[in-house]
Amino acid sequence: MEELSKEYDIHVNSQRKSDLDEWVAHYRSFAIEGQTANYIPALRNAHLSQLGITILEPGGTMIKSGDWEVPFTLQSISKVLSFIAACLGRGISYVLERVDVEPTGDAFNSIIRLEMHKPGKPFNPMINAGAITVASLLPGDSSQKKLEFLYGLFENLLGKRPTINEEVYQSEWQTSHRNRALAHYLKETNYLESEVEEALEVYLMQCSIEVTTEDIALLGLILSQDGYHPVRKEQVIPKKVAKLAKALMLTCGMYNASGKFAAFIGVPAKSGVSGGIMALVPPSARSGMPFQDGCGIGIYGPAIDEYGNSVAGSLLLKQMAQEWDLSIF
Ligand code: DON
Repeated sequence: MEELSKEYDIHVNSQRKSDLDEWVAHYRSFAIEGQTANYIPALRNAHLSQLGITILEPGGTMIKSGDWEVPFTLQSISKVLSFIAACLGRGISYVLERVDVEPTGDAFNSIIRLEMHKPGKPFNPMINAGAITVASLLPGDSSQKKLEFLYGLFENLLGKRPTINEEVYQSEWQTSHRNRALAHYLKETNYLESEVEEALEVYLMQCSIEVTTEDIALLGLILSQDGYHPVRKEQVIPKKVAKLAKALMLTCGMYNASGKFAAFIGVPAKSGVSGGIMALVPPSARSGMPFQDGCGIGIYGPAIDEYGNSVAGSLLLKQMAQEWDLSIF
């Protein structure tokens, strides 16, 4: 990330920075309307009122505010990365034979549609059933090899090896009964390509990768540029895969709040239960617009709502989208 800081310390738009500081200070207090994801014991100790954000533009502007530097685990944001990795390793059509691209309107860890619909193909890679399936599709005949493929992509995009939060991993490994149930069901219906425990290990390790808002803002930025890395000046994700990932973020990334997000915020976004939101603004055809060349946005606010999305983070994103006219619609 040193490379990024060197490139990016150049300009800061001071009006946008002061707007952002004001909104971060305001929305911090809304965390009391949510709570930490207490079904994962190690996430219970997060500081509820933390709120931080990084925005990165392709031309070198970086805006940071609040607790932008606090490390947190990727959780479901990792589903975007593993979906991209599976498409790179196995091809889009192979992956889409095993996981669909339809929103569910159900909770992220729901099991109901696997049995209600025939065949029981997971609806999309952003829900747990789809992501566990995708984890099993990663290239390699062991969990270590699959993870190595995923870590390789992470390193290629972010310029550093991922760090795993072992405490969060162990905590979830020991309590992941619902994910195990999903994986067993998917094994029985032949969607899972590896053994249950192997797919779970990959999935829970990817969820435990530790990041800051700066890291996920960079991932968002690369996606906003259709897979082109503006610092490295290189196409690091094929355009077709990047577009697919963004469509999935918009339609399924905020789970059963994705419709409301599209309607009232209007940018592709992906949440995680640790309180992260990775969002992005695509380049705009309208000249003179804020963030006209697109941007990546990383947000952290650990209190989440009933859908699993950061309470303060969602409000902050909504304020930004409305004030800066960011909606893609
Ligand atoms: O599998 C789980 O339940 C978590 N490791 C990830 C879920 C998640 O982040 C949902 N996001 N909002």
